[in-house]
Amino acid sequence: MEMTLLSGRAHPELASKVAAAMGAVLGECQIQTFPDDELQVDLQAEVAGRDVYLVQPLAPPGAGFLLESLLMADACRRRDAARLTAVVTYMGYARQDRRVTGREALGARVVADMLASRFDRVLAVDLHNPSIEGFFSVPLRHISAVPLLAEAMGAAGIEDHVVVAPDLGAAKLARRYAALLDLPVAYIHKERLGGRNVRVAGITGRVAHRRPLLVDDMISTGGTLASAVQALLAAGCTPPVTLAASHGLFVGPAAANLARLPLARVLVTDSLPPATTGGLPLEIVGLAGLLARSIEALR
Ligand code: R5P
Repeated sequence: MEMTLLSGRAHPELASKVAAAMGAVLGECQIQTFPDDELQVDLQAEVAGRDVYLVQPLAPPGAGFLLESLLMADACRRRDAARLTAVVTYMGYARQDRRVTGREALGARVVADMLASRFDRVLAVDLHNPSIEGFFSVPLRHISAVPLLAEAMGAAGIEDHVVVAPDLGAAKLARRYAALLDLPVAYIHKERLGGRNVRVAGITGRVAHRRPLLVDDMISTGGTLASAVQALLAAGCTPPVTLAASHGLFVGPAAANLARLPLARVLVTDSLPPATTGGLPLEIVGLAGLLARSIEALR
């Protein structure tokens, strides 16, 4: 079946790189926002009878790009696309994967249902929690940038490091990095006090006199990693610190929160469009090759 690759407005640079890696070009699709904030999709690309892939992170504003993806899928469906796959390089709302007070909505489930209402399949990169796959009523292929990030760290010169999970939710992720890099692992016990504030309640594992390599699925406000770095330094870790995360949101005070820290390297992928990060020692690991291979494997 012939393939059509599409991009919305969330991250066309990444979609173009994926197309180039596959020797393809992006299909044409005009999207505009009307003065009342409504979106309109005008699909010009040939999709009838074709295998269509929409490369689009649910980047901030997640609700807007989610709706944009759904409108694009609807336009494809109405033009007789044979199969539609959402290539979700970052799934917004994925952190809402459980209810804590019992009064919240299960945002990850709602987003999964909405994607499944218009797409036949989903290809997702490093979901906040792998068990979110169970929220989808359509097949989901979950791929990970962790091997690429670990490779980018390089094995040389990190023998004195310790991989640290900044909260218990990142424990499995940290063990994965530790196995790939052949390093010890430690865990921070984090308490969230609100959207912007967290507190470190303790550290499990030997961190003194070792250089921390903090790993997480995402950096949003940077609050989690900033608290973790301060706690690690207080526990006798040796600066500077390296941070690695699959998704670099860098929202609100992220650049300021992180700028205060003794950072050697900050590694993230290009799953999201570039954010303002000031003078952070940022290293971007490209996902286009991985995405191109993953799409080829699905065809
Ligand atoms: C939380 O469970 C996530 O894995 C991240 O640790 C968190 O969302 C990062 O957010 P922030 O950078 O705002 O602390």
